[in-house]
Amino acid sequence: MSQGSAPLTSRPEWQALTSHQRDLKNTHMRDMFRDDPGRADRFFIRGGGLSLDFSRNRMTDDTMARLMALARSCGVPERTEAMFRGEYINVTEKRPALHVALRDNSGEPIHVDGTNIAPEVESTLNRMSQFVDDVLSERWQGHTGKAFTDVVSIGIGGSFLGPKLVSEALRPYWHGRLNCHYVANIDGTQIAEILARVNPETTLFLIQSKSFRTQETLENSKVARAWFLDNGGHEDQIARHFVAVTANSPEAVRFGISADNIFPMWDWVGGRYSLWSAIGLPVALTIGMDNFRALLSGANAMDQHFRNTPLEQNLPVVMAMLGLWYNNFWGAETYTILPYDHYLRSLPAHLQQLDMESNGKRVTQDGVPLTYHSGPVIWGGVGANGQHAFHQLLHQGTRLIPADFIIPLETHNKVAKHHVILFANCLSQSRALMSGKNLDEAKAELKAEGMSAEEIDKLAPHKVIPGNKPSNTLLMDKATPETVGALIALYEHRTFVQGIIWDVDSFDQWGVELGKQMGKGILDRLTGDSDDSTSPSDSSTDNLIRAFRSHHSC
Ligand code: F6P
Repeated sequence: MSQGSAPLTSRPEWQALTSHQRDLKNTHMRDMFRDDPGRADRFFIRGGGLSLDFSRNRMTDDTMARLMALARSCGVPERTEAMFRGEYINVTEKRPALHVALRDNSGEPIHVDGTNIAPEVESTLNRMSQFVDDVLSERWQGHTGKAFTDVVSIGIGGSFLGPKLVSEALRPYWHGRLNCHYVANIDGTQIAEILARVNPETTLFLIQSKSFRTQETLENSKVARAWFLDNGGHEDQIARHFVAVTANSPEAVRFGISADNIFPMWDWVGGRYSLWSAIGLPVALTIGMDNFRALLSGANAMDQHFRNTPLEQNLPVVMAMLGLWYNNFWGAETYTILPYDHYLRSLPAHLQQLDMESNGKRVTQDGVPLTYHSGPVIWGGVGANGQHAFHQLLHQGTRLIPADFIIPLETHNKVAKHHVILFANCLSQSRALMSGKNLDEAKAELKAEGMSAEEIDKLAPHKVIPGNKPSNTLLMDKATPETVGALIALYEHRTFVQGIIWDVDSFDQWGVELGKQMGKGILDRLTGDSDDSTSPSDSSTDNLIRAFRSHHSC
């Protein structure tokens, strides 16, 4: 599966980009815009209901051609087909990554190891529909015959971030008959706060865990079950209140979930790509199954765009290659996601897992240490709040931080002039990042304010904003199930394309395992269950364990 030929950085396409960066590094985007009136029109593409303005990047037509040549030489079109065909692109775990199958509505067979999985995907969606219908029509009620009022989804990582993002993003589509809460953390405060607000007679718990082995999820689920039993529920009524989504049914049954209440997950869906499966149940319960299917069809529209559009016009490919351009040729270490929409406030957190768990890798698919950087640090926050906080560093800090601005043309909440002002803020930020303010302009501004020449000389350098800071602007008509589905799928494919170029396995996550392994030994020492002095430790860990134990007098 790996690229197999010359090391990435020795390829002519890579070297062509290295020398091209040297040619471009003293050119300001301001000048590019001045000299090329057609720039914004040319670097504007559409797909899956989204539009991308990528004209505010440190690039020319030549740059894009070179980036696309690299994409071709690394086999992006072939690897994309391999993903859609269900090949084992997750090499270290020996399985396909077929999240696209969860939103495929073509009716065509999709094979994994010779078995057509499409019917099972469809039958799971039908089961979800039936379940949502049963709950909303009150055929499925709490143990005292009352309708459910609250859903508590217990899961972490991919079994949490995607559904939470979409629940928030599609808040205007909530039918209002159910509240939805998410518990992820093993910080007891989270579940304590939620259980204090809900009623055991009318609360439905969804235990969401692909592996059904995740400590945080299992401990929180035990707390939920104990709370249910301590507050009027009986063992034989657990089936009315606890449902699981997992690829490990035997464990879920051992936990006490009725086999009839288990929705399947599959090995060929990675956790961070699972919101499209029954892991999306909290979303489906709150927005209804028709809207959930619309979310899937939005994602599918992006899948079709990604699969069938030439690289130059392909949103995920263009965004991936531009991200890579800064990551590998301009020394950018981080990448910021700036949704100008309150409903999309959790997008940065979801993309953090999606991208950093996928491409935070140090060896190639063949296990050879990388000689170039893989995925950057992903972070971000909702506009315009960031403008009054961290944007200062974007504008005047010493680091290069490419940004994605994401904004709907229309709001769900027409409040006074808010949306037009928000839109203006978004445009002014990307414009300011691009154009900046040079020393002459800073001086002229201060002069116009009547400042003395001496004061101007002192202050002007502080007022200089270098500009030439890259950004993309992603537009959608409105945050609907379709556009939100397309947006998330866009970033999934962007991540995948970068992983192809870096030749990493974007679908495993071995790095998170070590902390889990060590956690068990440390927990035993904290509780005093074992103080095995032969197990590896260090003086810092030992001291901190002593501090904890002495505080708790154990
Ligand atoms: O620890 C990381 C991780 O394995 C993620 O990849 C995954 O989304 C999360 O844990 C939760 O896993 P599970 O759904 O198996 O509980």
